[in-house]
Amino acid sequence: MTATISATGLVKRYGEVTALDGLDLSVPEGTVLGLLGPNGAGKTTAVSILTTLLEPDEGQATIAGVDLRTRPDEVRRRIGLSGQYAAVDEVLTGYENLDMIGRLYHLGKARSKTRSRELLERFDLVDAGDRPVKTYSGGMRRRLDLAGALVAEPPVLFLDEPTTGLDPRSRIDLWAVIRELVAKGSTLLLTTQYMEEADQLADEIVVIDHGTAIARGTSDQLKSQVGGDRIDVSIDDADQLGRARAVLERVAVGDVEVDAPVRRLLAPISGGAGTLTTALRALDDAGIAISDVGLRRPTLDDVFLTLTGRRAEHEETSEDDAGRESDPRESTSSGAPS
Ligand SMILES: Nc1ncnc2c1ncn2[C@@H]1O[C@H](COP(=O)(O)OP(=O)(O)OP(=O)(O)O)[C@@H](O)[C@H]1O
Ligand SMILES: [Mg+2]
Repeated sequence: MTATISATGLVKRYGEVTALDGLDLSVPEGTVLGLLGPNGAGKTTAVSILTTLLEPDEGQATIAGVDLRTRPDEVRRRIGLSGQYAAVDEVLTGYENLDMIGRLYHLGKARSKTRSRELLERFDLVDAGDRPVKTYSGGMRRRLDLAGALVAEPPVLFLDEPTTGLDPRSRIDLWAVIRELVAKGSTLLLTTQYMEEADQLADEIVVIDHGTAIARGTSDQLKSQVGGDRIDVSIDDADQLGRARAVLERVAVGDVEVDAPVRRLLAPISGGAGTLTTALRALDDAGIAISDVGLRRPTLDDVFLTLTGRRAEHEETSEDDAGRESDPRESTSSGAPS
């Protein structure tokens, strides 16, 4: 049986820029595919093509068995989309936004009303539900937009960076909603710049860069390529480095790296925080004084560094960079790489 979302050889060019360069994707029914990549990798382009907003230059795709090119209307009936930039009506209230979508999808007056109220509740927007959207914060708009994608209960969902701009608590709430949807049988493609998010939600991850897949597999498979979690320990006494290494080797799943000049050790582990506790206890039992410790989980940067030998280009690198942040699209209109 063909996968619910199936695409082969997708190519999209914008003048000199090749946004997608022969991308293949396959998402079996009831599973989540995480499309992971840095700014400009081609994530939104892929989502736009699969949701009929954009025509590919080459390649084909089917959604729930329906051909994208020949029956786009039929495809639209089966999908929900929450785009990267929230598409909500500023003048209408949150409730009215959802109800309008319900009517567009012919849910019927009563059903549309119930469904809209249900979703406001689920996305923690009950109090704001009867206020115009122009009074909403960025995170609230984001959540309303996501609710909008769910009004018609589509079996196939596309979420383009659903948690970018959300605070940690809203992000975790949203993960719960997504898990619930999948448990009920939805098929989902989500894009993200966060390894952790793909790790939490996706059954399979496709890492893309410059419009092509550079790696694919389960989170565990990718992590084993990248090196997985690592304990990062700095110790007080350089003379104890050898002993510390021996202790860490007992809990590590690979070679322990020693950076002698800074008295630091990196040990690849599996088992996360539990293993960290075990390691710390073992170091303590061996009488080794620790000056700093952390658990390093692989990030998109680590994945990138390992796969491509260079760092991913981030939009939001640090607080200090905030002032220089720009819409990635701006660089294309000024004709960046030509
Ligand atoms: N309308 C357009 N005109 C010209 N170039 C475009 C257009 N849309 C996208 N591109 C270019 O295509 C490439 C892929 O862009 P896309 O928006 O798909 O990336 P993305 O992975 O979604 O990035 P981000 O994480 O920043 O959202 C980029 O080089 C981008 O500059
Ligand atoms: Mg994008």
